[in-house]
Amino acid sequence: MSKLITRSVPAHALPLLDRFRTVRRQTESLAEPLSPEDQTIQSMPDASPTKWHLAHTTWFFETFLLKPQLPDYRPFDPAYEYLFNSYYEAIGPRHPRPQRGMITRPGVEEILAYRRHVTEAMAGLIESNRSNSTELIELGLHHEQQHQELILMDIKHALSLNPLFPTYAPERAPTTTGTTLGWIDFEGGLIEVGHAAGQDFAFDNEGPRHRSWIDPFALATRLVTCGEYQAFIDDGGYRRAEFWLSAGWDIVNQRGWQAPAYWHEDGVFTLAGLRPRRAEEPVCHVSFYEASAFAKWAGKRLPREEEWELASNDVMLDGNMLDSGHLHPTPANGEGLVQMIGDVWEWTASPYVAYPGYREPPGAIGEYNGKFMASQMVLRGGCAATPRDHIRATYRNFFPPDARWMFGGIRLAEDLR
Ligand SMILES: [Fe+2]
Repeated sequence: MSKLITRSVPAHALPLLDRFRTVRRQTESLAEPLSPEDQTIQSMPDASPTKWHLAHTTWFFETFLLKPQLPDYRPFDPAYEYLFNSYYEAIGPRHPRPQRGMITRPGVEEILAYRRHVTEAMAGLIESNRSNSTELIELGLHHEQQHQELILMDIKHALSLNPLFPTYAPERAPTTTGTTLGWIDFEGGLIEVGHAAGQDFAFDNEGPRHRSWIDPFALATRLVTCGEYQAFIDDGGYRRAEFWLSAGWDIVNQRGWQAPAYWHEDGVFTLAGLRPRRAEEPVCHVSFYEASAFAKWAGKRLPREEEWELASNDVMLDGNMLDSGHLHPTPANGEGLVQMIGDVWEWTASPYVAYPGYREPPGAIGEYNGKFMASQMVLRGGCAATPRDHIRATYRNFFPPDARWMFGGIRLAEDLR
């Protein structure tokens, strides 16, 4: 029986209009520490400008709710349909992703006016009760919360390339000091995983709920720390092919990786700028390949996503997330299984594929998740940049195995037989 406990009233329990306005404001507040120049830069094709995130999340409501449902809705600017479509083929052509940083106009002020225009039109739609699309509005809000995390990931990458190592926000220092690593055994067996239809909101890729066979396994009580990862590096981890998947070894050599992203000599670049590394902090910004190599070096393995989900049934669904303000993983604290939620997205050994019985929703929204089900790996649990009321035990994040700019980290598992 699941024992998920929440500490405070989650935002999804607020009436829809309150929640809508709260999420919209949160996005804008994340952009506030940034100058218009900061908000315009695109540091690599995978990362988008802050300004683009502000506009694209707005485009989502305009495209999927306002235009289809309000016959007298006046688009803020018809050209935005092309500019701020991300990847929806069914909606039409779009500006190439790697060139999002070339859009100096519209400027930040105009994008904020676009946001106000759409927010007020959406508020009218919600208030009028004319919309029978509560689920679609919820999807738009969870979509926007995904982009809140992306704003932080992407600006961190951009600021990290500035030799002055600018600060996004001052550090809120952790109060926790770390714990020794323990193991918790799980018997496994025939279990049910995935999101059950009819419960609270979930993305389509989290269901349907289905049976899964799990052999006995053990899970590490906490995340792998920077100190433990340093031992892997000191033992020649990045120079010894025996720990690496073939594709990972190729990338280590092509890209000259010698440490996680954002590591410097003794320091680490964070959203609070460059500062000394702390041995007890969870290691972060590693790729799947690095997570896998570390696990092999340690004589362990990465958990499968069904194992992670089974273990999460017994933990509190809370942790160091966006709302805690650290914007960086913090050392472990407490007894038993900790850090399952928050701190870092945990790489699993599971490829991102459809669950048995999965069907994409009809229409353009069907492109949201389903079409990415190849060549990516699943990550679980949310991170220090994930909004608290955005995460669930069944949540399946996914990234290519060489990606490092999200807050990705490591929890070890092992077989028990
Ligand atoms: Fe999006």
